[in-house]
Amino acid sequence: MPEPIRTSFTRLVGIDYPIVQAGMSWVSSSPVLPAAVSQAGGLGVFAAGPVRIGDLGGIMSQIRTLTDKPWAVNLPLYRKDSEQARRVILEARPDVLIASQGGPSRYLADFRSVGTICLHVVASVEHALKAAEAGVDGLVVVGGEAGGHPPHDLVSTMVLTRAVATAVPELPIVASGGFADGQGLVAALSLGASAAQFGTRFIASDEAQVHDDYRAMVLAAGVGGTRTVGRDLGMIRCLQNDFTDQMQNLENSGATLEARRSFFGATVLRQAAMDGHVTSGKVEAGQSAGLVRDVASAREIVHRIADEYRLTTARLPR
Ligand SMILES: Cc1cc2nc3c(=O)[nH]c(=O)nc-3n(C[C@H](O)[C@H](O)[C@H](O)COP(=O)(O)O)c2cc1C
Repeated sequence: MPEPIRTSFTRLVGIDYPIVQAGMSWVSSSPVLPAAVSQAGGLGVFAAGPVRIGDLGGIMSQIRTLTDKPWAVNLPLYRKDSEQARRVILEARPDVLIASQGGPSRYLADFRSVGTICLHVVASVEHALKAAEAGVDGLVVVGGEAGGHPPHDLVSTMVLTRAVATAVPELPIVASGGFADGQGLVAALSLGASAAQFGTRFIASDEAQVHDDYRAMVLAAGVGGTRTVGRDLGMIRCLQNDFTDQMQNLENSGATLEARRSFFGATVLRQAAMDGHVTSGKVEAGQSAGLVRDVASAREIVHRIADEYRLTTARLPR
């Protein structure tokens, strides 16, 4: 095992490496991937977004049986039944809650009272300042390279992380979007983050709950292989395929919002991630897909990133 890498984030959460596996709907919506990442010394994140209320408790109990290390739950607050989901998650008392797409005031006091560390996902300096004022314990800053939902203005992770770290120097920051290796982790920490979050890198892990064709598409992609589509509809970054080509055609030809919404909503991530509809579906992934060249176990990925971090920092000019 590589030596621990200590930062304000690893001390806050109680983990060995400043490596967070991103909450990814379906991909990390089973216990296996989050538990394996946490067991390896990173922070595993269970993506609760698409999971039925009745299944949430069972998955979280399974994570607890698979690891005694800290782990997290990602809850997108836009869920129609997010109130109910929050109650079930609160009962499970995860070590960390990572809430996205909503305001922190709705959940902070409850989770604080059971000792859960509360991180909030932000995609702008303005939202970072609001979350800091509300009293969150740390921020996940998502930049334009990210898979899934990047910021609508696509400001890059490099610029946004630096801007947020300058605006709220007192809070631990997890930089997210575009990181796939230890070199990326060095960059994140240099910019003022105290951890990096890795999404697409973990799609290419043995434990990811994803169709083999989805994984294969991530491996085959180059750094220019993604497209952002769905302007005004909850924009997403996906690997280029028939779905993104047709969506871009609609956007470039001035189709009405209704026409674009109807095409955009006709397919969902589950069909690509679970059923393997990778030509006509939403194959959400980040630009970092172009840096991912192999499938490995979650443990191997975490430890390799930590080793690369050490090698890279040792080679930097003094
Ligand atoms: C397939 C996929 C599903 C995602 N689902 C979620 C989600 O449910 N909740 C969330 O907050 N972010 C979600 N994201 C965004 C990730 O948490 C993270 O910000 C992003 O993957 C970072 O960029 P990277 O892929 O370049 O590492 C998703 C990303 C991907 C690729």
